[in-house]
Amino acid sequence: MKFFVDTADVDAIRELLALNMVDGVTTNPSLIMKAGRDIKEVTAEICSIVDGPVSAETVALDAEGMIAEGRELRKIADNIAVKVPLTWDGLRACKVLSDEGYMVNVTLCFSANQALLAAKAGATFISPFIGRLDDLNLDGMELIREIRTIYDNYGFETQILAASIRTANHMKDAALIGADVATAPPKVIQAMAGHALTDKGIETFLKDWESTGQKIL
Ligand code: G3P
Repeated sequence: MKFFVDTADVDAIRELLALNMVDGVTTNPSLIMKAGRDIKEVTAEICSIVDGPVSAETVALDAEGMIAEGRELRKIADNIAVKVPLTWDGLRACKVLSDEGYMVNVTLCFSANQALLAAKAGATFISPFIGRLDDLNLDGMELIREIRTIYDNYGFETQILAASIRTANHMKDAALIGADVATAPPKVIQAMAGHALTDKGIETFLKDWESTGQKIL
């Protein structure tokens, strides 16, 4: 499973890049707001350090506006994936932009039917939002499972990009189901390294080591 980092925080991306944990980046208007930077400037900086797809989101509501914004965002770098929402206009924009050879990430997907339409419209990525479904006591991971089955049934090449990931368990479950990509905030990727028994084991080893009076260096 590819790891995308869901942030516009360049320092956090750099830290994960050093460990080869970044196959791409996703941003959205909320993350741009959080970074407190100009969208074109920060996106260009991210594209200069990340080779993989970097999603930048349109904000127009009509297809023509999304297409115009998508073309503008795509000027930032060749590895931009234009993000459009899963509305009828978003699907129209997806078809036009993907026919022009752009990578398109169709976002705010909450049903398997929406994902089916995005694949038909030529989406490069479909972004089902797991956490926001879980917030409503629905089963976000079940949506990933349904989309995986449908895409595999018909050989769609659209990549399932599990999004709105909130926990390390979400990452594991998305990987088990076979999501092509998961995008997660840096802190969730770091949390995947944590285990209480690892911490306890280190504590015991250090205590025993101290009693030997030895040193490695
Ligand atoms: O990838 C989409 C993500 O940014 C939304 O996450 O936690 O706001 O639902 P969240």
